[in-house]
Amino acid sequence: MDPIHWQTTQSAPPLEPDEVHVWRVFLDWPQAMLHQALSILSPEEKKRAERFVLDLHRSQFIVSHAALRHILSRYINQPAAVINFTQGTHGKPYLLQPDVQFNMSDSKQLALYAITKNREVGIDIEWMRPDIDRMGIAKRFFALQEQQQLRALPQAQQLTGFYQCWARKEAYIKVIGQGLSFPLANFSVSLQPDGFNNLLSVNDDTEEVKRWSLGSIAVAEGYAAALAVEGEISKIHYFDWMARAF
Ligand SMILES: CC(C)(COP(=O)(O)OP(=O)(O)OC[C@H]1O[C@@H](n2cnc3c(N)ncnc32)[C@H](O)[C@@H]1OP(=O)(O)O)[C@@H](O)C(=O)NCCC(=O)NCCS
Repeated sequence: MDPIHWQTTQSAPPLEPDEVHVWRVFLDWPQAMLHQALSILSPEEKKRAERFVLDLHRSQFIVSHAALRHILSRYINQPAAVINFTQGTHGKPYLLQPDVQFNMSDSKQLALYAITKNREVGIDIEWMRPDIDRMGIAKRFFALQEQQQLRALPQAQQLTGFYQCWARKEAYIKVIGQGLSFPLANFSVSLQPDGFNNLLSVNDDTEEVKRWSLGSIAVAEGYAAALAVEGEISKIHYFDWMARAF
Protein backbone atom coordinates (compact mmCIF):
# COMPACT_ATOMS: atom_id res chain seq x y z
CA MET A 1 0.00 0.00 0.00
CA ASP A 2 1.34 3.44 -0.91
CA PRO A 3 2.25 5.71 2.01
CA ILE A 4 -0.06 8.68 2.33
CA HIS A 5 0.85 12.33 2.61
CA TRP A 6 -1.53 13.85 5.14
CA GLN A 7 -1.89 17.55 4.62
CA THR A 8 -2.38 19.55 7.82
CA THR A 9 -5.00 22.12 7.10
CA GLN A 10 -7.81 24.20 8.46
CA SER A 11 -9.66 24.33 5.17
CA ALA A 12 -9.84 21.89 2.29
CA PRO A 13 -9.72 22.50 -1.46
CA PRO A 14 -13.09 22.36 -3.22
CA LEU A 15 -14.49 18.84 -3.35
CA GLU A 16 -14.89 17.63 -6.94
CA PRO A 17 -17.60 15.03 -7.72
CA ASP A 18 -15.07 12.32 -8.69
CA GLU A 19 -12.84 12.88 -5.63
CA VAL A 20 -12.91 11.80 -2.02
CA HIS A 21 -11.63 13.79 0.92
CA VAL A 22 -10.43 11.72 3.87
CA TRP A 23 -9.78 13.42 7.21
CA ARG A 24 -7.82 11.91 10.08
CA VAL A 25 -8.33 13.10 13.65
CA PHE A 26 -6.37 12.05 16.74
CA LEU A 27 -8.87 11.90 19.56
CA ASP A 28 -6.62 12.67 22.55
CA TRP A 29 -7.49 16.35 22.83
CA PRO A 30 -6.51 18.39 25.90
CA GLN A 31 -9.15 18.63 28.61
CA ALA A 32 -9.64 22.38 28.08
CA MET A 33 -10.79 21.80 24.51
CA LEU A 34 -13.31 19.17 25.51
CA HIS A 35 -15.61 21.86 26.92
CA GLN A 36 -15.55 23.72 23.63
CA ALA A 37 -16.15 20.46 21.79
CA LEU A 38 -19.12 19.57 24.01
CA SER A 39 -20.65 23.02 23.57
CA ILE A 40 -21.24 22.52 19.84
CA LEU A 41 -22.95 19.12 20.09
CA SER A 42 -26.72 18.75 19.72
CA PRO A 43 -28.84 17.79 22.76
CA GLU A 44 -29.12 14.27 21.29
CA GLU A 45 -25.34 13.95 20.88
CA LYS A 46 -24.87 15.19 24.46
CA LYS A 47 -27.32 12.54 25.67
CA ARG A 48 -25.39 9.84 23.80
CA ALA A 49 -22.14 11.13 25.32
CA GLU A 50 -23.60 10.83 28.83
CA ARG A 51 -24.29 7.13 28.32
CA PHE A 52 -20.60 6.15 28.20
CA VAL A 53 -19.39 4.54 31.40
CA LEU A 54 -15.70 5.32 30.87
CA ASP A 55 -14.51 8.95 30.76
CA LEU A 56 -12.10 8.09 27.96
CA HIS A 57 -14.87 6.76 25.73
CA ARG A 58 -17.11 9.74 26.53
CA SER A 59 -14.31 12.20 25.63
CA GLN A 60 -13.56 10.37 22.41
CA PHE A 61 -17.22 10.42 21.39
CA ILE A 62 -17.41 14.17 22.11
CA VAL A 63 -14.23 14.90 20.17
CA SER A 64 -15.14 12.70 17.21
CA HIS A 65 -18.55 14.31 16.82
CA ALA A 66 -17.28 17.86 17.37
CA ALA A 67 -14.57 17.25 14.76
CA LEU A 68 -17.21 15.86 12.37
CA ARG A 69 -19.22 19.05 12.76
CA HIS A 70 -16.15 21.26 12.20
CA ILE A 71 -15.08 19.32 9.13
CA LEU A 72 -18.56 19.31 7.59
CA SER A 73 -19.01 23.01 8.26
CA ARG A 74 -16.26 23.65 5.68
CA TYR A 75 -18.18 21.84 2.97
CA ILE A 76 -21.65 23.22 3.57
CA ASN A 77 -20.77 26.70 4.80
CA GLN A 78 -22.69 26.45 8.04
CA PRO A 79 -21.47 26.98 11.60
CA ALA A 80 -20.52 23.64 13.17
CA ALA A 81 -23.03 23.94 16.02
CA VAL A 82 -26.12 24.37 13.83
CA ILE A 83 -25.58 21.45 11.44
CA ASN A 84 -28.54 19.06 11.40
CA PHE A 85 -28.47 15.39 10.52
CA THR A 86 -30.97 12.85 9.36
CA GLN A 87 -30.68 9.04 9.21
CA GLY A 88 -31.22 6.23 6.74
CA THR A 89 -33.40 3.27 7.70
CA HIS A 90 -30.44 1.42 9.29
CA GLY A 91 -29.01 4.44 11.06
CA LYS A 92 -26.57 5.80 8.47
CA PRO A 93 -26.28 9.51 9.17
CA TYR A 94 -26.75 12.06 6.38
CA LEU A 95 -26.66 15.84 6.12
CA LEU A 96 -29.87 17.62 5.22
CA GLN A 97 -27.93 19.05 2.24
CA PRO A 98 -28.27 16.10 -0.15
CA ASP A 99 -25.24 16.89 -2.34
CA VAL A 100 -22.59 16.30 0.37
CA GLN A 101 -22.24 12.77 1.79
CA PHE A 102 -20.01 11.62 4.62
CA ASN A 103 -19.16 8.65 6.77
CA MET A 104 -17.07 8.31 9.92
CA SER A 105 -15.38 5.62 11.94
CA ASP A 106 -13.23 5.53 15.03
CA SER A 107 -11.03 3.01 16.79
CA LYS A 108 -8.70 3.36 19.75
CA GLN A 109 -7.27 6.91 19.38
CA LEU A 110 -8.12 7.73 15.79
CA ALA A 111 -11.18 8.85 13.87
CA LEU A 112 -11.53 8.92 10.10
CA TYR A 113 -14.02 10.86 8.03
CA ALA A 114 -14.71 10.51 4.32
CA ILE A 115 -16.54 13.22 2.38
CA THR A 116 -17.98 12.90 -1.13
CA LYS A 117 -20.26 14.83 -3.44
CA ASN A 118 -23.45 13.25 -4.72
CA ARG A 119 -22.43 9.67 -4.01
CA GLU A 120 -22.49 7.22 -1.17
CA VAL A 121 -19.39 6.67 0.94
CA GLY A 122 -18.38 4.32 3.73
CA ILE A 123 -15.21 4.28 5.83
CA ASP A 124 -13.89 2.01 8.56
CA ILE A 125 -10.86 2.01 10.82
CA GLU A 126 -9.78 -0.80 13.13
CA TRP A 127 -6.97 -0.86 15.65
CA MET A 128 -5.26 -4.22 15.08
CA ARG A 129 -5.41 -6.10 18.39
CA PRO A 130 -2.75 -8.77 18.14
CA ASP A 131 -4.31 -11.15 20.68
CA ILE A 132 -7.58 -12.17 19.05
CA ASP A 133 -8.75 -15.52 17.72
CA ARG A 134 -8.44 -14.54 14.06
CA MET A 135 -9.44 -17.83 12.48
CA GLY A 136 -12.32 -18.33 14.92
CA ILE A 137 -13.75 -14.88 14.08
CA ALA A 138 -13.10 -15.40 10.36
CA LYS A 139 -14.98 -18.71 10.42
CA ARG A 140 -17.91 -17.02 12.09
CA PHE A 141 -18.14 -13.80 10.08
CA PHE A 142 -16.15 -14.03 6.84
CA ALA A 143 -17.30 -15.56 3.54
CA LEU A 144 -15.61 -18.85 2.54
CA GLN A 145 -13.55 -17.14 -0.16
CA GLU A 146 -12.22 -14.69 2.43
CA GLN A 147 -11.35 -17.49 4.87
CA GLN A 148 -9.41 -19.26 2.12
CA GLN A 149 -7.48 -16.10 1.24
CA LEU A 150 -6.65 -15.56 4.90
CA ARG A 151 -5.39 -19.12 5.39
CA ALA A 152 -3.21 -18.75 2.29
CA LEU A 153 -1.34 -15.77 3.70
CA PRO A 154 2.07 -16.28 5.33
CA GLN A 155 1.82 -16.23 9.14
CA ALA A 156 3.52 -12.81 9.34
CA GLN A 157 0.80 -11.22 7.16
CA GLN A 158 -2.19 -12.84 8.84
CA LEU A 159 -2.95 -10.13 11.38
CA THR A 160 -2.92 -7.35 8.79
CA GLY A 161 -4.81 -9.52 6.30
CA PHE A 162 -7.50 -10.29 8.86
CA TYR A 163 -8.03 -6.64 9.76
CA GLN A 164 -7.90 -5.45 6.14
CA CYS A 165 -10.65 -7.95 5.40
CA TRP A 166 -12.66 -6.81 8.42
CA ALA A 167 -12.26 -3.09 7.57
CA ARG A 168 -13.23 -3.69 3.91
CA LYS A 169 -16.32 -5.62 4.95
CA GLU A 170 -17.32 -2.86 7.35
CA ALA A 171 -16.69 -0.14 4.75
CA TYR A 172 -18.98 -2.02 2.34
CA ILE A 173 -21.86 -2.48 4.80
CA LYS A 174 -21.46 1.20 5.67
CA VAL A 175 -21.43 2.48 2.09
CA ILE A 176 -24.67 0.62 1.36
CA GLY A 177 -26.03 2.00 4.64
CA GLN A 178 -27.26 -1.33 5.93
CA GLY A 179 -24.74 -1.95 8.69
CA LEU A 180 -24.95 -5.38 10.27
CA SER A 181 -28.45 -5.96 8.91
CA PHE A 182 -26.64 -7.08 5.74
CA PRO A 183 -25.32 -10.64 6.24
CA LEU A 184 -21.53 -10.57 6.26
CA ALA A 185 -21.22 -13.96 4.54
CA ASN A 186 -23.30 -12.77 1.55
CA PHE A 187 -20.44 -10.83 0.02
CA SER A 188 -16.71 -11.25 -0.25
CA VAL A 189 -13.77 -8.91 -0.51
CA SER A 190 -10.25 -9.46 -1.75
CA LEU A 191 -7.35 -9.47 0.71
CA GLN A 192 -4.84 -8.19 -1.81
CA PRO A 193 -3.26 -5.04 -0.40
CA ASP A 194 -3.63 -2.52 -3.21
CA GLY A 195 -6.17 -0.83 -5.41
CA PHE A 196 -9.89 -0.14 -5.18
CA ASN A 197 -11.26 -3.17 -7.04
CA ASN A 198 -11.55 -5.30 -3.95
CA LEU A 199 -15.23 -6.10 -3.84
CA LEU A 200 -15.28 -9.61 -5.30
CA SER A 201 -18.89 -10.76 -5.08
CA VAL A 202 -22.27 -9.78 -3.65
CA ASN A 203 -24.97 -12.45 -3.82
CA ASP A 204 -23.91 -13.31 -7.41
CA ASP A 205 -24.95 -9.80 -8.47
CA THR A 206 -22.27 -8.58 -10.91
CA GLU A 207 -23.92 -5.17 -11.35
CA GLU A 208 -23.69 -4.58 -7.60
CA VAL A 209 -19.97 -5.44 -7.63
CA LYS A 210 -19.32 -2.94 -10.43
CA ARG A 211 -21.17 -0.19 -8.60
CA TRP A 212 -18.58 0.29 -5.84
CA SER A 213 -14.89 1.08 -5.41
CA LEU A 214 -13.42 -0.57 -2.30
CA GLY A 215 -9.88 -0.54 -0.99
CA SER A 216 -7.55 0.00 1.94
CA ILE A 217 -5.86 3.18 3.08
CA ALA A 218 -2.68 3.28 5.16
CA VAL A 219 -3.73 5.55 8.00
CA ALA A 220 -1.27 4.89 10.83
CA GLU A 221 0.97 2.20 12.31
CA GLY A 222 -1.10 -0.48 14.02
CA TYR A 223 -4.39 0.36 12.29
CA ALA A 224 -6.22 -1.05 9.26
CA ALA A 225 -8.66 1.13 7.36
CA ALA A 226 -10.82 0.86 4.27
CA LEU A 227 -12.83 3.19 2.08
CA ALA A 228 -15.83 2.34 -0.11
CA VAL A 229 -17.30 4.76 -2.62
CA GLU A 230 -20.07 4.63 -5.20
CA GLY A 231 -18.50 4.71 -8.68
CA GLU A 232 -14.88 5.37 -9.63
CA ILE A 233 -12.42 7.44 -7.62
CA SER A 234 -10.17 9.78 -9.59
CA LYS A 235 -8.31 11.19 -6.59
CA ILE A 236 -8.28 10.92 -2.80
CA HIS A 237 -7.08 13.94 -0.79
CA TYR A 238 -5.91 13.24 2.76
CA PHE A 239 -6.10 15.85 5.52
CA ASP A 240 -5.09 15.93 9.17
CA TRP A 241 -7.43 17.86 11.38
CA MET A 242 -5.44 19.72 14.02
CA ALA A 243 -7.06 20.35 17.38
CA ARG A 244 -5.72 23.91 17.34
CA ALA A 245 -7.93 24.56 14.32
CA PHE A 246 -10.85 24.40 16.71
C1 LIG B 1 -22.62 0.74 11.41
C2 LIG B 1 -21.70 -0.31 11.97
C3 LIG B 1 -20.99 -0.95 10.81
C4 LIG B 1 -20.79 0.45 12.92
O1 LIG B 1 -19.59 -0.06 12.99
P1 LIG B 1 -18.56 0.16 14.20
O2 LIG B 1 -17.35 -0.57 13.77
O3 LIG B 1 -19.19 -0.23 15.48
O4 LIG B 1 -18.31 1.72 14.34
P2 LIG B 1 -17.57 2.78 13.41
O5 LIG B 1 -16.79 3.65 14.31
O6 LIG B 1 -16.85 2.16 12.27
O7 LIG B 1 -18.76 3.59 12.75
C5 LIG B 1 -19.72 4.22 13.53
C6 LIG B 1 -20.31 5.35 12.73
O8 LIG B 1 -20.88 4.88 11.51
C7 LIG B 1 -22.02 5.67 11.19
N1 LIG B 1 -23.14 4.75 11.01
C8 LIG B 1 -24.09 4.32 11.88
N2 LIG B 1 -24.95 3.48 11.26
C9 LIG B 1 -24.53 3.37 9.99
C10 LIG B 1 -25.01 2.64 8.86
N3 LIG B 1 -26.09 1.86 8.90
N4 LIG B 1 -24.32 2.75 7.68
C11 LIG B 1 -23.23 3.53 7.60
N5 LIG B 1 -22.74 4.25 8.64
C12 LIG B 1 -23.37 4.15 9.81
C13 LIG B 1 -22.23 6.65 12.34
O9 LIG B 1 -21.64 7.88 11.97
C14 LIG B 1 -21.45 6.01 13.47
O10 LIG B 1 -20.90 6.96 14.35
P3 LIG B 1 -21.55 7.19 15.80
O11 LIG B 1 -21.99 5.87 16.33
O12 LIG B 1 -20.44 7.79 16.61
O13 LIG B 1 -22.67 8.14 15.58
C15 LIG B 1 -22.50 -1.36 12.70
O14 LIG B 1 -23.28 -2.09 11.85
C16 LIG B 1 -21.83 -2.31 13.64
O15 LIG B 1 -22.28 -2.36 14.73
N6 LIG B 1 -20.78 -3.07 13.38
C17 LIG B 1 -20.21 -4.04 14.37
C18 LIG B 1 -18.84 -4.53 14.04
C19 LIG B 1 -18.72 -6.01 13.63
O16 LIG B 1 -19.15 -6.94 14.30
N7 LIG B 1 -18.09 -6.25 12.46
C20 LIG B 1 -17.78 -7.53 11.90
C21 LIG B 1 -16.96 -7.31 10.62
S1 LIG B 1 -16.37 -8.75 9.92
